[in-house]
Order: sequence, then structure tokens, then C-alpha cells
Amino acid sequence: MNNRFFRLSIWTCTLVLMVMLQAACSTKGDDPRPDTQPPDEQPGPAILKEKAAFGMGAAIKTAHLTELAYANTVKNHFSQVTAEWEMKMELIWSSASGYNWNNADRIVDFASDNGLEVHGHTLVWYKSFPGWFKNAAYDSIAFEDHVKSYIQTTVGRYKGRVKSWDVANEIFNDNGTLRSTDCPVFATFKDPIGFYGRCFEYAHEADPEARLFYNDYSVVLASAKRSAIKRMVSRFKNEGIPIHGIGDQFHYRVTTDKSTIKNGLTDMASTGLLIHLSELDIIVNVLQSESYAFTQAEAQKQADMYRFIVESYESLPDNQKFAITTWGVTDKYTWLTDYWHAKEYPLLFDQNYQEKEAYRGFLAGLKND
Ligand code: XIL
Repeated sequence: MNNRFFRLSIWTCTLVLMVMLQAACSTKGDDPRPDTQPPDEQPGPAILKEKAAFGMGAAIKTAHLTELAYANTVKNHFSQVTAEWEMKMELIWSSASGYNWNNADRIVDFASDNGLEVHGHTLVWYKSFPGWFKNAAYDSIAFEDHVKSYIQTTVGRYKGRVKSWDVANEIFNDNGTLRSTDCPVFATFKDPIGFYGRCFEYAHEADPEARLFYNDYSVVLASAKRSAIKRMVSRFKNEGIPIHGIGDQFHYRVTTDKSTIKNGLTDMASTGLLIHLSELDIIVNVLQSESYAFTQAEAQKQADMYRFIVESYESLPDNQKFAITTWGVTDKYTWLTDYWHAKEYPLLFDQNYQEKEAYRGFLAGLKND
């Protein structure tokens, strides 16, 4: 190597080093972030199931599980599932002695393949009694025998795999009276609450580990209904009937009164039982208008409501927080499209499975510790 070449190489290396040093310094100089952020500004987990200290549930349908984005959203963001339709009596109980487990099994298998828990919904709901059963000329004894065998067969089949069940759904009216169902035999029960209590016992016998819930809508809004539920819970506790939790469906709206929600939740929790927000979705198109547009401002209103609900739930005693379940996964598929008869955008993910403002509102409502 001649001298001139050697000097040139040294000079080139020095120049490269200087340029690199300067680049490093100027990047640092332009970057306003300190090296480490103070603890309270550290971003927490950005995924619901990772941040939530309780179950993060979604109601699912098998028909959608073949859609990759749907299945992935459930797996990535949620820790438990509820069958939106396929574990109801009408779907499973095809005749007095015939059961169709196909779809219910698929839900439970999907959950166990992906490390998700299953909340069973629902064992006794007047709206899902199969036609053959509702119309059979049973007296109250035969009716109850059949219900017992349905409960024990179903809970027994999924023993240890379905960790919790809604044993009874929607038995009260908002004014606290017992709902008169379109099933005539109900009118002949001398003590209908006693019948529901025995349904909890039948479920418990079939799977003593399963946590058993009473589920209804407007529990936090309708104080007379809530009082009736609380009276039933006290009676069950006095009689040693195994009831572990209460679910309020939470099909509410962006306009639902916030202080009523908060007070109602606190009152529900005074039972000491587990609390499940079991079918959460938030209606935005409250006027059911054909020309409704889901604008950024509307998305923000919805996010604020989600955040408020989650914060209110978080303020309950930790040992009573069972789960929050959204009634669906994506705005692409929501039961409200059929039921509400207006275009709706009630869930946490949009039609393309993107996180909505609602998702961010939910996340912001979760406690950080
Ligand atoms: C709804 C489902 O979302 C629909 O897909 C089905 O057609 C009817 O039932 N309260 C309940 C849920 O407890 O079981 C209902 O689910 C919604 C109202």
C-alpha cells in the first residue's frame, strides 16, 4: 500500500465516521422523547384481552368461523366466547329424545383449540323452547322432568369445557312481575321461582364446577325488575340453591342515562354475586333513520359510552368481575340488523375488522394495574 493511498483511506474512514456520528446526534436532537418514559405514561397493552383483568367475551356464530378475519379477530382480541344462537334449546333439542350437537360442538371445539373459555347461553329461555316441546300436552311435572333431562344432558356433555351457564334467561318483566310465557303449562306452576331454582340445582348436579348465572335485559335500568331479581337471589341463597352470578345483557344506546347505569350496576353488585355484562352492544342510530350516517362524531359518542360502561364495571369489587361479552364481533354481522330494522354499527370492530373508536374507548376504560 503506498503512502498516498494509506492517507486517503484514513481520511475516508474519518469522514464516514464523522457523518455517522453527526447523523446519530441529529436524530437524537430531533427526537423529543426522553430515553425512558415516566411509568404513568408507558402505554399499556393495546389488546383488550391482555389488558382486561376479567373475561373478555364475544358472541360468535359458526357460520362466520370459516371467514379468516372473523376467526382471527376472535382469537386475537377475546378470551372467551358465547354461542350467539347455537347453544339454545331450540337448536339443540330436536325432539323428546333427539339432540343435535353439531354446531354447539363446533363452538366448544373452536374455543378449546384456541385456548378460549366458553360461557353457555342459555338453558331455560321461553323464547327458545322448541315448537314440539312448547306444544306438547305436558302437565307441570312432565314439563319439569323434560327440562331436567335437557339441562343434565347438555351441561353433562360439556362438563369441564363450558365453564359457566346462563341457567335462566328473561323470566321477569321490567315491572318485576313474572313473565307470562306463551307456553301454557307455566300458568299451572304454583311456585315458578321454585321451578327455576330447581333448574339451577339440576345444572349444578351435572357439573358442580360450572358457575351458574341468571341473565336478563335492562337489569341496571329497570329498578323493579332488579328488585325482583335480588329477592330471587336472596331466596336462592337462603335455600342453598347454587347461583353464582347475574348477567345484564347491556343492549343499550349512546343516549342511555349514564348515572342510571352506574347506580344500577352498584345495586346489582350488592348481591355479592359475579356480574356479567353479557350481551353488550351500543346502538348509535337511535332514531332508526334511513339516512343515518355513522360519522366520526357519532363514533366518538359511541366510544365515550363504551368507556363509561367499562369504567363503571371496573369500579365494582374485583372478585365480582366475571366478564364483559360483546354481542357479536364486527358491525358486518349484528343481530340488530334484523331486530332493530335500521342500519347499525354497535360493536368494537367495523365491517372490515378494523378497530373502531369504540374499541379504543373500551380499552381506555380498563384499569391500568
Ligand atoms: C339473539 C341472537 O343474537 C340472534 O342471532 C337470534 O336470532 C335471536 O337471539 N337476548 C338474548 C339473546 O338473550 O339470546 C338474543 O340473541 C338477543 C336478546
